[in-house]
Amino acid sequence: MVELQKVSKTFQKVVKEKPMEVKALAEVDLSIREKEFVSVIGPSGCGKTTLLRIIDGLIPCDGGQVLINGKKVTEPGPDRAVVFQTFALLPWRTVLGNVEFSLELRGIPKDQRAQIARTYLEHVGLSEFEDHFPHELSGGMQQRAGLARALAVNPLILLMDEPFGSVDAQTRQLLQEELLELWQREKKTVIFVTHSMDEAVYLSDRVVVMTRRPGQVAEILDVPLARPRIANDVRRSKEFVELTNYIWESLKKAMDKRQ
Ligand SMILES: Nc1ncnc2c1ncn2[C@@H]1O[C@H](COP(=O)(O)OP(=O)(O)O)[C@@H](O)[C@H]1O
Ligand SMILES: [Mg+2]
Repeated sequence: MVELQKVSKTFQKVVKEKPMEVKALAEVDLSIREKEFVSVIGPSGCGKTTLLRIIDGLIPCDGGQVLINGKKVTEPGPDRAVVFQTFALLPWRTVLGNVEFSLELRGIPKDQRAQIARTYLEHVGLSEFEDHFPHELSGGMQQRAGLARALAVNPLILLMDEPFGSVDAQTRQLLQEELLELWQREKKTVIFVTHSMDEAVYLSDRVVVMTRRPGQVAEILDVPLARPRIANDVRRSKEFVELTNYIWESLKKAMDKRQ
C-alpha cells in the first residue's frame, strides 16, 4: 500500500560559505501493508524525519519514489496526516479550534467542522478541554489534541514523528495504550518514528531498524505478540524482552555500519 522504492535524499548545505552535501537517505526500500502499524527506529540524524516528510510529500526525494496505492507521491494529500514531536498546535486557537483548523484546510464545510472535531476530541478524552488554549494543557494533553487533529481528517495513513518523545514516562505509556485503542478502532496505516525500542515493540506489527546516516534499512523485524496488548503483561513477557534486546543489538550494529 505504501511502497518506498530506493528512496534517496541529499541536502545541499552551506558551511563556512562552502557548499556541502549531506546524504540523508540512501536507497530505502520498504513496503507497508494497509492497516499495518510499522515503527521506524534508528540513530539520531539517520534520516527518519526526512523519510516521513518525503512520504507526506512535503519534500521530494531525489532518487527513487514513494507510491501510495500505486500512485506516485508528489505533494501532501488528504490520504496522509502527520503528528509531530512538538505538538505544533496554534497557540491562539482553542483545542476545538485547532482540530477544526485541519478540517478547514481540507475544505470541510463550516457547519460540519465542530461536530467532527468534537467526535475526535472525545476519542482522545479531551471533550472537557475543548475551550482551553494549548498553553493551558499538559504535554500529554497537547499531544492528544495533535492526535485528534490528525485523525479528524480521516487519513488512510498516519505519520507520527516521535510523538511521545517529550512527555513523561507514565503519560507516554498511557498515550501508547490510547493510540493502540484508536488504531484498533480506526484501523489506519501507521508509520511511527521512535527512539524507544520498548515503544516500537509494544505498538508495532513490524519494526524497521535503520543504519546511521545515510539512512538505509538495516533490518525489519516481525513483532509476533498477540493483540490486543495489555501494556504491563506484554512488557513482562519473555518474547517482549527478547525482541527488545535483539533490536538493541541490531541498532548497535546499525550505528557502527559505515558506508
Ligand atoms: N532541510 C535540511 N537541510 C539540510 N540538511 C538537512 C535538512 N533536513 C535534514 N537535514 C540533515 O539530514 C540528516 C537527517 O536528518 P533527520 O531526517 O532530521 O534525521 P532524524 O529524524 O533521523 O534524526 C541530518 O544530518 C540533518 O542535519
Ligand atoms: Mg527526527
